[in-house]
Amino acid sequence: MIDLVDPIYVLTIVFFVVALQQMSDPKTARRGIVAAGAAMLVAVLVTFLVPGLGNLLLILGGAAIGGVLGYVAAKRVKMTDMPQMVAIFNGMGGGAAAGIAAVELVAFTDAPSYLGLALAGALIGSISFAGSVIAFLKLQGWMTARPVTFPGQQPVNLVVLAGAIGLAGLTLYLAAPTWLAVFFLLALGYGLLMTLPIGGADMPVVISMYNALTGVAVALDGVALVDSGAGAAAAAMIIAGTLVGAAGTILTVVMARAMNRSIGNVLFGAFGATVDSGAGVTGSMRSIEPDDAAVMLAYASRVIITPGYGLAVAQAQHKVKELMDVLEAKGVSVRFGIHPVAGRMPGHMNVLLAESGVPYDRLLDRDEVNPEFAHADVVLVIGANDVVNPAARRVGSPLQGMPILDVDQAKNVIVLKRGQGKGFAGIENDLFYKDNTRMLYGDAQDSVAKLVQAIKKL
Ligand code: TAP
Repeated sequence: MIDLVDPIYVLTIVFFVVALQQMSDPKTARRGIVAAGAAMLVAVLVTFLVPGLGNLLLILGGAAIGGVLGYVAAKRVKMTDMPQMVAIFNGMGGGAAAGIAAVELVAFTDAPSYLGLALAGALIGSISFAGSVIAFLKLQGWMTARPVTFPGQQPVNLVVLAGAIGLAGLTLYLAAPTWLAVFFLLALGYGLLMTLPIGGADMPVVISMYNALTGVAVALDGVALVDSGAGAAAAAMIIAGTLVGAAGTILTVVMARAMNRSIGNVLFGAFGATVDSGAGVTGSMRSIEPDDAAVMLAYASRVIITPGYGLAVAQAQHKVKELMDVLEAKGVSVRFGIHPVAGRMPGHMNVLLAESGVPYDRLLDRDEVNPEFAHADVVLVIGANDVVNPAARRVGSPLQGMPILDVDQAKNVIVLKRGQGKGFAGIENDLFYKDNTRMLYGDAQDSVAKLVQAIKKL
């Protein structure tokens, strides 16, 4: 059996790589997630075959508590609460990586080069853990989601980070774990301080960055464990950690780019602390009743639906699928325009619409759908705001330069939202004041249900 341990670890590595590849396409993503989960389960189980494993009760107790909590949380979580769940799960990963490094460091038996790696893993894992906890608190509404800023914040943060790095160096120089507790306190403190000035709406980008950092911390732990003779288990940690690090980094960059922001601006720009004056917005909003909107939709040739965060809040995806069906039964072409950062997490709209059975081929990404708006008779904006805000084209707007869905190019635009609520960026939307725009007020699920009923009667 013992001879099987290393080959099984290698097999799990292959599964991780294949699973990640499958996650890159919505059609195979579910399979990829199951494969990655199964590989992780096997990697955990095979660890019990490693000779000399101590503290069995503690390990089993920890795994049971973590397993039950994770299962119940994942089963119960609402789709709109997914970002904070990802944040806290990721934080646990960072904490675990820091914990593994701490065990190596307290024993202080490895060669200095490996201890250096363990210190780096401990630093990054601790930052990721503390930062993810703040991200969770902000998204859960257990603390203010607004950027928390104070004078001299960046210099203070730098001093704390420099202190942690300095103590890591001192630990290696003294060849003793004397300063480890202070080192960990400073590392955790930096994660906390660095996340406080970031607004709640930027959290998905930050969570993705912390996810990448957790991966790096795990990979560093893996390298540090090589000296302890961990064999293929260390290799599995290095490869899985590197995959998470690379994937998380790419996702972070893609999200920041989709908002036309630099990573530096997301991390240090305190986005959301200032309020837009709304300069440039002219005209007034005009409302429309469901019956009139239904006539416009039913007698259109081409309709494009652009969903946003409000679709997730209203859980309107099933009604939207019904709307698509009744319109198509009347010969209307219906397609969906999906902005990469619509909603609050990557792929948010794709997941919701897939859940309700909207076929993938109806979903167009921003580059595909933008040339189509000019030919659309009606664009139905369902709970989207920032991602369709033409203010992005206005110099001086906080959204300036963000690539948006050009829905204002359509002949008619109907916007479904509850009232005068602003989007995540907290700014006025020029689109709502345009001559070709009508506002259909109400909860999106309710409004779409009324549209479906009205269209059926036509
Ligand atoms: P938002 O700009 O957040 O606007 C959502 C709109 O939905 C609000 O104007 C709100 O207006 C409406 N709404 C809320 N609940 C509703 C309900 N039950 N029924 C109907 N309408 C409802 O959404 P968006 O356009 O999807 O933009 C996403 C924002 O999040 C962007 O600024 C993006 O940069 C940011 N962000 C996204 C991500 C990812 S990865 N998706 C990551 C980081 C940041 P009312 O209150 O008036 O109803």
